[in-house]
Amino acid sequence: MSAILVVDDVPAMAEQYAYDLKRVGGYDVLVALSGRAALDLLEREAVDCVILDLEMPGMDGFEVLRTMERRGLRMPVLVYTGTGNYDRCTEAIRLGARSFIDKAEPMERVVQEVEHALEQQRLAGQLAALRGRLDSEAPLVGASPAMQALKDAIGRVAKIPSPVLIVGESGSGKELVARELHRLGANPAGPFIALNAAAIPENLVEDELFGHERGAFTGAGALRKGAFEAASGGTLFLDEIGELPPAAQAKLLRVIEQRQITRLGGNRTVAVTARVVAATNRDLEAEVRAGRFRDDVYFRLNVHVVRVPALRERLSDIPALVEHLLMVTCARFGVRPKTVDPAALDCLMRYDWTRNNVRELRNVVERMIIATDGETMCGEHPRRRPGKRGSAGERRRGPRTDHIPRPQGGGGAPDHRRSPGAQRLAHHADGAGAGPCRSCEPLEDHAPPQHQPRIGSRLSAAE
Ligand SMILES: Nc1ncnc2c1ncn2[C@@H]1O[C@H](COP(=O)(O)OP(=O)(O)OP(=O)(O)O)[C@@H](O)[C@H]1O
Ligand SMILES: [Mg+2]
Repeated sequence: MSAILVVDDVPAMAEQYAYDLKRVGGYDVLVALSGRAALDLLEREAVDCVILDLEMPGMDGFEVLRTMERRGLRMPVLVYTGTGNYDRCTEAIRLGARSFIDKAEPMERVVQEVEHALEQQRLAGQLAALRGRLDSEAPLVGASPAMQALKDAIGRVAKIPSPVLIVGESGSGKELVARELHRLGANPAGPFIALNAAAIPENLVEDELFGHERGAFTGAGALRKGAFEAASGGTLFLDEIGELPPAAQAKLLRVIEQRQITRLGGNRTVAVTARVVAATNRDLEAEVRAGRFRDDVYFRLNVHVVRVPALRERLSDIPALVEHLLMVTCARFGVRPKTVDPAALDCLMRYDWTRNNVRELRNVVERMIIATDGETMCGEHPRRRPGKRGSAGERRRGPRTDHIPRPQGGGGAPDHRRSPGAQRLAHHADGAGAGPCRSCEPLEDHAPPQHQPRIGSRLSAAE
């Protein structure tokens, strides 16, 4: 139910308006009898729309609009006037009001106007969510049997409202899978809110999840909605759920079971309409055995488990992944699209990806792009610099960052169900056109050393 705040210094007028709004529009209506009381209320309550009188003693409607703007209070405001002075209304719109209504208008018209404002606000939210998605969305690339099984699993659970647990190694694509679940879910236009439990200080986790009422603790000057409320009607992605502190785990269980939250410092309950998707790269069962993760939360989450395969289980996806990563990274850097030397691709296909994942493949591709002046990127050719790089110890640590990794012996077993571009790459990888390329020299000589991502490491700030 939408909450509307009526601000008017004449109590009889405000009460009558509130009564009619409730009766005709079915809203939850709050009343403030002065500008100051209105601002105070807006800091304490979750208000969806304000109906504001302009002429009030003390702080008038214009000052309320200015202060709302300063404080970042973005709910739509309809000003209403009994004077018929439309110049003043125009001035209010300049200050951020959505529209104006005459006090004499029938309530049905006012409700129409309120609905219009609420709808506009919803659309603006959806647009922002879509923009964010366009920026961050990447297709789930890969047609290997392992990826096919993953896509089938996503398709099966996407529409159901129950929680889903995504498991998989670090950098294997869990967040991408969560976004895909949202995209194929019941309300893809709704918000997708990601919260990384490992990245939030322990004492702030509950505040981030559930929000707080004004005055809940020192410094809580205004009501703040948490991630559950922000994700209303959409998806709340709880990343690295294994890192959630025990107290927050207990509250999470209650929220999942009762489908409602209570903001910190309050006793009002708010219905939860967000779908929960959690992810972990930990063995949660082992965490439960070790007493670090609550078994009741685990059992509630693991009803639907989606496992993301590691890159080494789907080596045949590498050509398509490299092609995709090249395209998006070149576009992001604003450079002309580059291609990969077949021998380099061959190296990537045969590299021992035992401990690393798509994120590292992405990093390797990115470094290759930076290190290559020409249009064709190439890496270390096996016959060059024999024995100089790629010692057993180095292979164990993962590829060097300034060139394509040395392959592990034996070669891969590519699967040829690929896009035409990927097939082209794969064709080269089979030997056609292989050979040294001019960009090898600068690539090997000038690229700066970098360190490797650790397995189990957190998302870096750059991500
Ligand atoms: N199938 C895929 N297709 C395209 N890109 C992928 C795929 N899988 C992973 N990636 C890319 O690899 C990178 C790592 O993916 P993501 O962040 O989803 O991994 P993660 O499993 O959530 O990692 P972590 O456990 O460290 O949080 C991202 O840039 C993502 O876009
Ligand atoms: Mg992640």
